[in-house]
Amino acid sequence: MSRGTVLITGASSGIGEAIARKFHDEGFDLIITARREDRLEALKSELSEQNVTVIASDLSNGAGIDAFLGAISAHESAVDIVVNNAGMMVEGAFTDLTDDDVAQTIGLNITALTRITQQFARHMQSRGHGRITNIASVAAFHPVPGMDLYAATKAYVLSLSESLSENLRGSGVSVTTVCPGMTKTDMVDTALAANLPPFMMSSSSEVAKETFDAVMSREVLRIPGAANQVALTWAQHQPRWLVRGIGGLAARILPKT
Ligand SMILES: NC(=O)c1ccc[n+]([C@@H]2O[C@H](COP(=O)([O-])OP(=O)(O)OC[C@H]3O[C@@H](n4cnc5c(N)ncnc54)[C@H](OP(=O)(O)O)[C@@H]3O)[C@@H](O)[C@H]2O)c1
Repeated sequence: MSRGTVLITGASSGIGEAIARKFHDEGFDLIITARREDRLEALKSELSEQNVTVIASDLSNGAGIDAFLGAISAHESAVDIVVNNAGMMVEGAFTDLTDDDVAQTIGLNITALTRITQQFARHMQSRGHGRITNIASVAAFHPVPGMDLYAATKAYVLSLSESLSENLRGSGVSVTTVCPGMTKTDMVDTALAANLPPFMMSSSSEVAKETFDAVMSREVLRIPGAANQVALTWAQHQPRWLVRGIGGLAARILPKT
């Protein structure tokens, strides 16, 4: 018997795909979304077909978000858990980003996550139960020169999600923020990954397991990986100018694509 239904955005690769596999293995039905429908259908075929619903969508613009929210409304009452995982990072200097780069990054990382969270928070609050999980990043905690826009969008995700977890306290709806560090997926540049010591790089299945555990125990904040926890604890006890400066230095010396 199914333990419930989980909606996962960005389930066609990386962390989102691993989260989908983990919830499936734990006995949940899935609703999965992303742009690459062929990859979602392949995942559905590999898992038990009857327990997986695919909704292809582009969540980086208003029309795509509207279309997705329209399509998901038919399944709304079945969804017990929402995992807002879809996210993007455009490589390159902030001053070189195009208008489209900026609009799509903010559209996906901020607007889509906000509107999906709001739609499901309303519904879950009125019925008195539910869990929402937003995937931020360790980059949410401080400015990251070289990933300026991306880090700023993740700071938004952390701030919104933590405050909602308080606002919804006692409603039966929990809001969990997961802040992974560097994780081996398509998003991470191969050259950069090769230069990092292995203890600084997680696998998507490790992040998925931590996400599952955090959601099921209704934790407010989970930072997967001991190395990431140590680094963030250290950074939180330093002056902002020092953390900013170290980030700036790293951006100048680490390899570019
Ligand atoms: N990898 C890391 O080191 C790391 C660290 C911290 C946080 N994170 C966060 O973890 C999440 C997953 O990232 P990942 O590393 O697993 O990257 P990934 O493998 O590139 O996965 C990104 C997912 O988002 C979907 N997506 C991208 N653009 C989309 C759009 N316009 N509309 C709908 N879906 C879209 C992609 O599917 P389609 O291309 O098929 O649309 C894909 O399923 C992101 O929020 C990311 O910021 C990653």
